[in-house]
Amino acid sequence: MPQAKPIESVPPADAALPRAAEPAPGIPRYLQETYRWAYLSEAWRRVLDRPSVVSAILWGNANRLMEAAIAEFAPGAHVLQTACVYGDFSPRLARRVGAGGRLEVIDVAPLQIANCRRKLSAYPQVRLRVVDASRHDGEGYDGVCCFFLLHEVPEDYKHRIVDRLLASVRPGGKVVFVDYHRPRRNHPLRPVMRLVFRRLEPYANALWRREIASYAARASDYAWRKETYFGGLYQKTVAVRRGQ
Ligand SMILES: C[S@@+](CC[C@H](N)C(=O)[O-])C[C@H]1O[C@@H](n2cnc3c(N)ncnc32)[C@H](O)[C@@H]1O
Repeated sequence: MPQAKPIESVPPADAALPRAAEPAPGIPRYLQETYRWAYLSEAWRRVLDRPSVVSAILWGNANRLMEAAIAEFAPGAHVLQTACVYGDFSPRLARRVGAGGRLEVIDVAPLQIANCRRKLSAYPQVRLRVVDASRHDGEGYDGVCCFFLLHEVPEDYKHRIVDRLLASVRPGGKVVFVDYHRPRRNHPLRPVMRLVFRRLEPYANALWRREIASYAARASDYAWRKETYFGGLYQKTVAVRRGQ
């Protein structure tokens, strides 16, 4: 396990970004406008990319949620991870598929792919590419892992990403979504999360109103199951493609 280092100082929100906020080619608008500081800034990456920070952001549930996602994939499987994740999620998933499996990691941000490449250099079974998950055209995967990506994208992207990922697994293969979910009515963090969403995560609230399956154009081609965690604040939704 990587050791968490203390956070010395928090950089300004525009640290390590071009002074004039020019749109970067290929990077979706929502990412540049809403999450620029979190994913397109090297200074912020250094702050955020620690298991302890990821754990704090997920109220101590990161390990449990990562385990729940990773357990869905069998050793030897060919798995697609649809976006980089801060902390040690990808090395854990790489160890799970093992030397006999294959892990492909995509992300739309070159900075994130470069960072993840460093973390995965010890795993020859891993391949990384800069690709937008809503345009990814691979097929035949045993599994796809979509870990906390959907809540960060606008509704049209949610539809496109869900459809693309569902289409990319073989019959019998599965897509695993781990993300936010509507917490129970008296959940003590409900007002806090509402505020966080309003301030920082404008596309997350939709997952309190809609099931992930409802974004799929061909939902009935898949068998769906869902588990919730931490009073309903988080979900794991799994879609298994029908047929063998
Ligand atoms: C998986 S999500 C959130 C993960 C979580 N908050 C964490 O701890 O890292 C963050 C990643 O999604 C990537 N991303 C956003 N939109 C994307 C898209 N359309 N296709 C692929 N990657 C995308 C961002 O560049 C970022 O690296």
